[in-house]
Amino acid sequence: MTEHIKLRQDGAVLEIIFARPEKKNALSNAMYRAMTEALERAHNDPAIRVVLFGAEGDAFTAGNDIAEFASAAAGRRDELAAFGFITALGRAEKPIVAAVTGLAVGVGTTMLLHCDLVYVAETATLTTPFVNLALVPEAASTMLLPGRIGHARAFAMFALGESLSGPEAFTLGLANKVLPRDDVLPAARAAARKLAAQPPGAVVATKKLMRERERILARMAEESAVFGQRLQTEEAREAFRAFAERRPPQFGKLAS
Ligand code: COA
Repeated sequence: MTEHIKLRQDGAVLEIIFARPEKKNALSNAMYRAMTEALERAHNDPAIRVVLFGAEGDAFTAGNDIAEFASAAAGRRDELAAFGFITALGRAEKPIVAAVTGLAVGVGTTMLLHCDLVYVAETATLTTPFVNLALVPEAASTMLLPGRIGHARAFAMFALGESLSGPEAFTLGLANKVLPRDDVLPAARAAARKLAAQPPGAVVATKKLMRERERILARMAEESAVFGQRLQTEEAREAFRAFAERRPPQFGKLAS
């Protein structure tokens, strides 16, 4: 259990709220484990028909806690719980709604590719700077993001760390609506309630038909293997050290 993930059930909607605003909602292993359990609960409980992700504070999430990456790079990879969460997202059968009220970094953006309705703030920024950290993208985003926004834009996001604004995410089809920040969570909640009132069997069957689940899970496994290798590289260790020391990384002299 962690106080950094809050769960709230509103009728048939299970809300999973990132609640670590002092760290921009960076996701720790404990938070991933709590979210994985919540997704399992949603899967197993017929009273839950929709899952909603939201956040406290100004950021949606700053992505994986970089200190936990550093710890995994130091040889404790089994502690990296992100992949359990990502797999649970890939397996999810019930619909997922996201309220992206601010900055969404890394998995904060790639998880949106597994959400069925996405509401973003006008001021939100979506970014996937995996290569900046000497890593590779995850959550099947190497397949899903180019499919949604095209190879060139996706590559620039992954490899150059280029970002999308909330309005750009909407225009590119990554979000249903772009709204003033304070309207995002209410809009997501209203959509989740509406979805929960639809015939659940038809909703689940439609989601299933729209997703190539086995391909997604296979790509997640491929990415996870490469990600694990990248974590052990000297350039990744340098990137994590540089973040902790609040300085730009120096990749020039390192072996890859
Ligand atoms: N992991 C661990 N801690 C993080 C974090 C992360 N991903 N993102 C932010 N934090 C922490 C900061 O270290 C800081 O902690 P401190 O107050 O104890 O020093 C706190 O959250 C606030 O962050 P700060 O950097 O001061 O805020 P900012 O508004 O200047 O910048 C970000 C916010 C998110 C742009 C910046 O923190 C950042 O780039 N984070 C890393 C994002 C990232 O690369 N994630 C992994 C993607 S794969």
